[in-house]
Amino acid sequence: EIREAVEILLNKMSITDKIGQMSQCMSTNLSLGSDIESETPEKLIMEGRVGSILSAVNSNRVFELQKIAVERSPHGIPLLFNFDVIHGFQTIFPVPLAWSCSWDMAAIREANAIASKEASATGITYNHGPMVDITRDPRWGRVVEGAGEDPYLGSLIAKAQVEGFQGESLFDPETIIACLKHFVAYGAAEAGRDYNTVDISEGTLRNVFLPPFQAGIEAGAGSVMNSFNTYQGVPVAGNRYILNELLRKELGFDGILISDYGAIDEIVAHGNAKDSKEAAQKALEATMDIEMVTRSYDHLHELIERGFVVEEQLNEAVRRILTFKYKIGIMDDPFRYVRPEKEKEYHFHPMHLEASRKLAQKSIVLLKNNGALPLADKKQKLAVIGPFGDSKDMLGPWQWSRYSKETVTLREGLEAKGFPKTHLLMEAGCKVEEAVDGGIERAVAAAEQADIVILALGESSEMSGEAASRMDITLPQVQQELAEAIVRVGKPTVLVLTNGRPLVLDWFERHVDAIVETWFLGSQAGHAIADVLLGHYNPTGKLTMSFPAHIGQVPVYYSHYKTGRPVTENNKGEKFFSRYIDGSNDPLYPFGYGLSYTSFEISDIRLSQTQMTDSETIVASVTVSNTGQVPGEETVQMYIQDLYGSVVRPVKELKGFNKVQLAASEAKEICFSITAADLVYWNPELKYGAEPGDFKVYIGSSSRDVKETSFELVL
Ligand code: IFM
Repeated sequence: EIREAVEILLNKMSITDKIGQMSQCMSTNLSLGSDIESETPEKLIMEGRVGSILSAVNSNRVFELQKIAVERSPHGIPLLFNFDVIHGFQTIFPVPLAWSCSWDMAAIREANAIASKEASATGITYNHGPMVDITRDPRWGRVVEGAGEDPYLGSLIAKAQVEGFQGESLFDPETIIACLKHFVAYGAAEAGRDYNTVDISEGTLRNVFLPPFQAGIEAGAGSVMNSFNTYQGVPVAGNRYILNELLRKELGFDGILISDYGAIDEIVAHGNAKDSKEAAQKALEATMDIEMVTRSYDHLHELIERGFVVEEQLNEAVRRILTFKYKIGIMDDPFRYVRPEKEKEYHFHPMHLEASRKLAQKSIVLLKNNGALPLADKKQKLAVIGPFGDSKDMLGPWQWSRYSKETVTLREGLEAKGFPKTHLLMEAGCKVEEAVDGGIERAVAAAEQADIVILALGESSEMSGEAASRMDITLPQVQQELAEAIVRVGKPTVLVLTNGRPLVLDWFERHVDAIVETWFLGSQAGHAIADVLLGHYNPTGKLTMSFPAHIGQVPVYYSHYKTGRPVTENNKGEKFFSRYIDGSNDPLYPFGYGLSYTSFEISDIRLSQTQMTDSETIVASVTVSNTGQVPGEETVQMYIQDLYGSVVRPVKELKGFNKVQLAASEAKEICFSITAADLVYWNPELKYGAEPGDFKVYIGSSSRDVKETSFELVL
């Protein structure tokens, strides 16, 4: 039925109308960091030269523009309203890198469902998320938007996010179209510099960067956005192999492909097209449906007239766009999303805040604790020192909540726990990147009067996100100076970090008593941090990106390849091995790492059999015991290593995990199933398959802290 309606409409449309559906403009003439000038959206809509609007974030504006489209554009075709709903709309959740540390798919799905509910009530129909890029270089500011370094975990999170945004059916007006971005390998930008060149092998593309997209497409994502980078020298926005052959034909994606902001025009800047006309042709030939904000597609008219492209190529794109307009119900009911009464009800709803606080608790990772935490009692005097002690900048990048002033700060979180003001000595000491006159002296005086010091340090929101790559991923110098002065006072000191990427923390690891990684936790940040500091929530978070011990190690990730000269226990200190002469290869905190206020022990691994065929399953089991004094949750992780293959395989790859809650002294058996499907990879014969041979299985509490055994795959 939809197909028929689309064809009827398509037959009535002129080339200009079709290009219009394939063009997007901003809701206002504001540009997102480039100097692209656009005609007013009102004018473009009336002329039928635009089919979707970016960043209309209040329902009046959505209503106003939709009304023009329906009443005054050539065919009255309603508009799509697009927005970047990355970690919440009005209620802000932890940044995606943070929530990935929860390893909790149900909670991540729920956060995105809430974000959809809030955004769709304003009239947003189409999300520019989730960002499912694998990220291994913490210099890249966009690591904050993703789920970290691992393709297996990244795939589960991509699926959970798509399910959260799109719900059971896109016809439900409380859902929004999910857009997987950025296809593909954007996270491999050389030297972690945003928009920089990507030069990777096909094996890395398929084994590392592709899986989360594949999972998101299988979950039914309605849209995909291209990445800014090149692949094999060709900008992805005009790369027919990547977009048409790989994404559409091989992965079976039949939804809307949207270009990232300005990316079609940038084919020219890359030096892969002479001008924006040629860029438009390349993008169209690569099956790009919507051009975000720039107007290269206006050239399609001339390109058709001169026979360089055929109108049927436009028809295919417009069919896909109109199909979604029908699917979400706006063709029959253009205003069904714009529901001001629901906006009032849903935005910043107490239940949404509660969900945000719970996910924030689960996102916190305890990196070090020598017993300073949890804080023993409220009679202790706390000195809360640092620019994040009472800062509202806890939401992180990629959010535009109207409620940012209601963000709960760390001070407010501690006060809500009953700390009297007299026991909270607040001193900023400095700004995030700037000294303050006498700041350090006042902070030292406060520390001297206190029983325990909380050092609240970190990065501002602007220091991560798009176009926010850093060369130096330590804390800003002024905060380091503050920390050194405070540590000299000699009181028990807890570092509470607010930041959007893994940082180099080796000095802090050596000098403070506890380190709590809180990232940007969202609207309820201060409550969630106080919950953890006081032990009202026993930390469960596990890192999803390795923290380097030194900037020179970057990129450092757990599933690296073995070399011909690997460092082993037996060649410690010897020279001609793959090592640095001035430091360890190991990250400070590896993938999967995170402490609890209790301790766990994981037994040796038991295997149901040590040999399997491709139709059999091996069950690997361990006993996990809570050996500490309080209840806690451990995320038990299973990794597999293919010991020798037709190409070199990673030293370890995550293939499963299991969360287990244990009372003090309790023990439980945890089982993992292993089948040949877990051993599949993209091999040099250019196909996916598992190869016979020996494998190691590792089970433990992080990628580093594991027990191991082995099995054989017989084919
Ligand atoms: O969706 C984003 C994308 O991730 C980066 N460039 C801008 C787009 C629109 O906001």
